[in-house]
Amino acid sequence: MRIDIVTIFPEYFGPASGVGGPLGVSLIGKAAARGDVSFHIHDLRQWATDIHHTADDTPFGGGPGMVMKADVWGAALDAILSDRPLAATDPSMPASPPGAVPPSSPAEQATALSAAEPSSLSAPSASSAAPGIPSVTGARLVVPTPSGVPFSQEMALAYAGERHLVFACGRYEGIDARVVEDARVRGMAVDEVSIGDYVLAGGEAAVVVIVEAVCRLLPGVLGNERSVSDDSFGGGGGSMHGLLEGPVYTRPRAWRGHEVPPVLLSGDHGAIARWQRDEALRRTAERRPDLIRRLAAGDGLDARDRAVLIQAGFPVDGESMAH
Ligand code: 6GU
Repeated sequence: MRIDIVTIFPEYFGPASGVGGPLGVSLIGKAAARGDVSFHIHDLRQWATDIHHTADDTPFGGGPGMVMKADVWGAALDAILSDRPLAATDPSMPASPPGAVPPSSPAEQATALSAAEPSSLSAPSASSAAPGIPSVTGARLVVPTPSGVPFSQEMALAYAGERHLVFACGRYEGIDARVVEDARVRGMAVDEVSIGDYVLAGGEAAVVVIVEAVCRLLPGVLGNERSVSDDSFGGGGGSMHGLLEGPVYTRPRAWRGHEVPPVLLSGDHGAIARWQRDEALRRTAERRPDLIRRLAAGDGLDARDRAVLIQAGFPVDGESMAH
């Protein structure tokens, strides 16, 4: 998978897929080192045409703050989607002077592409499950914004099947709305997504969140395939689907007077699985009652589940479930 990230703070991402930045660490770093994913970080300002590299302007209609300019974003996306980015910024390198010849030659770009995506020339996008339409360009544009649709594990799974994701990091009050409109008109799949009900100063942190959620789902990234379906929000349809994961323990059996629950030491796999589901149900009822209501409405709770929830004091039937 190829991931392009456009930002006015390329240094936020560190030397992508190297040591020091969030994309070079842990599972993502290993996926990048293997060539399962390639990161291309771009400084938006290189597509600004004025002497000051201005990327924002005052909003039409008035109001506080600044809006990121459509023409700068349009030029950036055109270049990236035509596979001729002006420059793939490596934050560890000195910035190229304005108007410099693009440092990355077509041959270098071809190498970067072919290592990660053997099927990139022939296969259309593998996924159309994410919100939005399949992209005719083969790329999906993701715009992080607090006014977007909530990012979810289902979207992470769909993104993990994409060939090419392009992230557009907004700052200030956001990006001129015509940028998304224009990308859609041109046949690109575009998602405006939020990672939660709070406001960040910019989309960069949200991109790291989304990329991590996606990259750990790439084939071969997680050591233990089963842990995907057993995740909280596991999209793989495992036994914990739609539930928060319960507590976990490792050695020693007793620590500061706290014992590991004896069932986990019993060797009785059926009893262990049942206990884990019961704990997940109790935890989810307490912390995320909305998820229990969703499961109940979707026939995701059996009689035993309901008994566990009732015993835990959580109403699961009839009128009391309404709110
Ligand atoms: Cl995706 N971006 C920004 N700037 N703030 C957010 C967000 C995204 N999701 C929640 N808050």
